Amino acid sequence: MRRSGWLFALVLAATPLQAQQISDTHAPEAASARAGGPKSATGRDWMVTAANPLAAEAGAAMLRAGGNAIDAMVAVQLVLGLVEPQSSGLGGGAFLVYWDAAAGTLTTFDGRETAPRAATPTLFQNGEGEPLAFMEAVIGGRSVGTPGTPALLEAVHKRYGRLGWGALFAPALELAENGFAVSPRLAGLIAGDAATLARDPAARAYFLDAAGAPLAEGTLLKNPGYADTLRTLRVEGAAAFYQGALAQGIVAAVRGSVNPGGLSLDDLRDYAVKERAPVCGAYRGLDVCGMGPPSSGALTLGQILGLLEPYDLKALGPASSEAWRLIADASRLAFADRERYIADVDFVPVPAKGLLARDYLAARAKLLEGDDALPEVAAGTPRWDHAMAPPARVDGAAPELPSTTQITIVDDDGNVVSMTSTIEAGFGSRLMVGGFLLNNELTDFSFRSHRDGVPVANRVEPGKRPRSSMAPTIVLKDGRPVLALGSPGGSQIIGYVAKTLIAHLDWGMSLPDAIAAPNVLARFDAVEIEAGTAAEELAPGMRELGFQVKTGPMTSGVQAVAITPGGLIGAADPRREGVAIGE
Ligand code: GLY
Repeated sequence: MRRSGWLFALVLAATPLQAQQISDTHAPEAASARAGGPKSATGRDWMVTAANPLAAEAGAAMLRAGGNAIDAMVAVQLVLGLVEPQSSGLGGGAFLVYWDAAAGTLTTFDGRETAPRAATPTLFQNGEGEPLAFMEAVIGGRSVGTPGTPALLEAVHKRYGRLGWGALFAPALELAENGFAVSPRLAGLIAGDAATLARDPAARAYFLDAAGAPLAEGTLLKNPGYADTLRTLRVEGAAAFYQGALAQGIVAAVRGSVNPGGLSLDDLRDYAVKERAPVCGAYRGLDVCGMGPPSSGALTLGQILGLLEPYDLKALGPASSEAWRLIADASRLAFADRERYIADVDFVPVPAKGLLARDYLAARAKLLEGDDALPEVAAGTPRWDHAMAPPARVDGAAPELPSTTQITIVDDDGNVVSMTSTIEAGFGSRLMVGGFLLNNELTDFSFRSHRDGVPVANRVEPGKRPRSSMAPTIVLKDGRPVLALGSPGGSQIIGYVAKTLIAHLDWGMSLPDAIAAPNVLARFDAVEIEAGTAAEELAPGMRELGFQVKTGPMTSGVQAVAITPGGLIGAADPRREGVAIGE
């Protein structure tokens, strides 16, 4: 077993103080460490965790008023769209994994954006058929998909909510009308994005001051446009988002921008939330369940854990380079399958069962039996769910930036919400309408539509949902939830969730410590190590094993709740401004 001096450092890294020092090494993430507030909480009755204290308080207010987890989630999301507007909101999409305690069932809801009818597979290609530069694709209307979040909030509230729809709007409306203090993290991100925000008149007027300077931390920011939108949706429901003046405003912004897109009133009118069966992978006697396609979250997380199942990570421990070799190469194998096979299952067949089949994972896990990094990693050949000949598949090319937000809630009936919500990149398409930002979710599609004449599964098609990495997760033991979590972070989300689960389940770290432990993951060729943390000590050993190694900021934002016989434990990632509130 190869060991570094990392064990001692890792234990230190898991303390709140050390975690704060880790965050302080990154600007603008440094801001989050100064935000204060509890990063973990305990509760007997309920727990709400969210990426901003005002949003978590809104959820807590609903729960104190007799609301349930779905009521709290809607209130949290409406406030996040105001106080963390760069990450999620009405102009974006979300995936919800939901445990219905009364029914004893787990289900998922897909509120992912759809490509407009007018979209074509060459949406993100230049005249020569080559992929556009990422930011060229992102900014403006071209990248905007039909938002799903308003429809999702209404659909699940209609089905499960306990409080009246109107009551859920009170906290967000109050903050939009009377103002909230711009948080350190938001101020830092506005400053970093001022040039692109300045390109849209509405975004410029909101995020920059009259002289064009980015809003400073602590500025009291009111959002009358968002307040108007909230009042409209409160009275008229989500239909007022998808038809009428608001819909016309969204279409005009998308079509009238410098880099126009094809979103139409018909696309908005026809948007539909989809309920889908959860996808579960087995790990250490637990069922790790989450969102299937169009998200790659649960399948890829399930593959990583399934490939690691035969290996005794507990015995190896967190200080062992051997443990990280296994985790890194399991992740690379899973990401190779993800790139080849996972896309919107309503448009392309996905071998979902085959990717998690025990015999397939056992055979792939044997590839990890050597001592060194795998020199090459390629997609495997999972069984397909149908009898026809497997379709030809080639790898796509979809850049994904860290962004997004996680909401995790348990209520006093035992209902559990794990929802990951996004407008894709920070500040999405940078187009602002009705006081909220429009997503750039379409850039989660592969920019390449074909390779050598073979179509890419995740190519752009009209009405299709772009592949996601969002991994809202609920872990079941003997059919009952014991843990719920998720994270922002683009395609790093999957590694952040995997690390948290391994640190908690295999290495016995408490939930807050597992979240705070340094991030180390692999997606494609390189092992990525969180800069400024004790994990940097792993780098020489990983290089010796044959890995390429990169270090950089890895700003996970895990929000998690453990459901234990002794009560609820909530924890928020120390790298961001989130908090857990429980009672
Ligand atoms: N846009 C982030 C994701 O869906 O993974």
